[in-house]
Amino acid sequence: MPRIRVFANAAILIIPLVALLYLLFPLLGDIGQRFDFSGEKRVESFDFKPTDIEETCSRSNIHSTDPVPNVVHVIWLNNTELDFINYLTIRSALISLQPDRVNLHYTDLNGQNEWFIKLRDNVTLVQHDLETEYGQQIKDKWQISHVADLLRLDVIAKEGGIYLDMDVIALRSFDHLLGCEKDLILGHEGGDRHGLCNAIIVGRPGSSFIQRWRKSYGTFATNEWNYHSVILPKELSLMYRDEICTISPSVFYWPTWTRKHIRYMHEPITQSEAQEFQHTVNENEGGIYPDQLAYHAWSQVASTYLRDLNPGKVLSHNTRFNVLVRRFLD
Ligand SMILES: *[C@@H]1O[C@H](CO)[C@@H](O)[C@H](O)[C@H]1NC(C)=O
Ligand SMILES: *[C@@H]1O[C@H](CO)[C@@H](O)[C@H](O)[C@H]1NC(C)=O
Repeated sequence: MPRIRVFANAAILIIPLVALLYLLFPLLGDIGQRFDFSGEKRVESFDFKPTDIEETCSRSNIHSTDPVPNVVHVIWLNNTELDFINYLTIRSALISLQPDRVNLHYTDLNGQNEWFIKLRDNVTLVQHDLETEYGQQIKDKWQISHVADLLRLDVIAKEGGIYLDMDVIALRSFDHLLGCEKDLILGHEGGDRHGLCNAIIVGRPGSSFIQRWRKSYGTFATNEWNYHSVILPKELSLMYRDEICTISPSVFYWPTWTRKHIRYMHEPITQSEAQEFQHTVNENEGGIYPDQLAYHAWSQVASTYLRDLNPGKVLSHNTRFNVLVRRFLD
């Protein structure tokens, strides 16, 4: 009899565990594809020296007669609620980039959401009907994040401007990038520069590089998400060098998504560490590094930290992330 009870007890534990893993698997699979944790050391190794091309791209002409429009685009699909991190993205864009407008591309929003209420006077709402615009992709059972990957390319191709993922914090003005000679700017991801991430896209309407990139989604399989959003643009950048400017990993995407870097940003630090960090950020006019313009919060990897945040915690708890974003609270 006791043996049966042991089996029964084990089953009580194991069955829900298996069910949970089964439910989480598609999610873990997607994150696993996007972030290769076995390559963390390579991603983290970086000498903070821009290449010659990166340096030229970051020092472009602020007196360009045909600058990239100073219009910010953010995308929020199939989700009625904005979170605090999304609020920080839009707030930081308003404050750091001083854009002509922030276009919030959405499908459906709750007008009573607390973060939306704070932002609504400062955003231009652009509603999308995915069924009409992306019917084929929807039929092919694309996930919403894949549709959003396509929409950002279509928006920049059509209107130009600055696209930001809803977990990017804009730290300093992008003005000196807007006069870039090339029609598109992307930032390297990882110290090994293995990819060009699509979380921040700066471009003129009609960019030929975007067109090439967009075409690749014709052969998109949803298990190639990382390839199409990060690796493929890197490959294309090596083939079509005169159509794109690439910038150093520390400008948009440092610290990275590795577990060590996420802990660096979110684990508690002492009061004196916080003061020292604040001092560094002040010296860099808002960035952690002299050339940094934005911080990508990697919300898929850092969700356990980000989902617990609110303005009160940002003010009262010392972490590097909190110190970095404090000035964007209203
Ligand atoms: C939001 O819009 C209001 C009204 O136009 C303006 O006074 C305010 O400065 C804007 N806030 C930001 C952060 O841009
Ligand atoms: C978006 O939401 C609608 C309604 O909830 C759903 O039918 C549709 O499948 C979702 N689209 C994607 C791409 O997930």
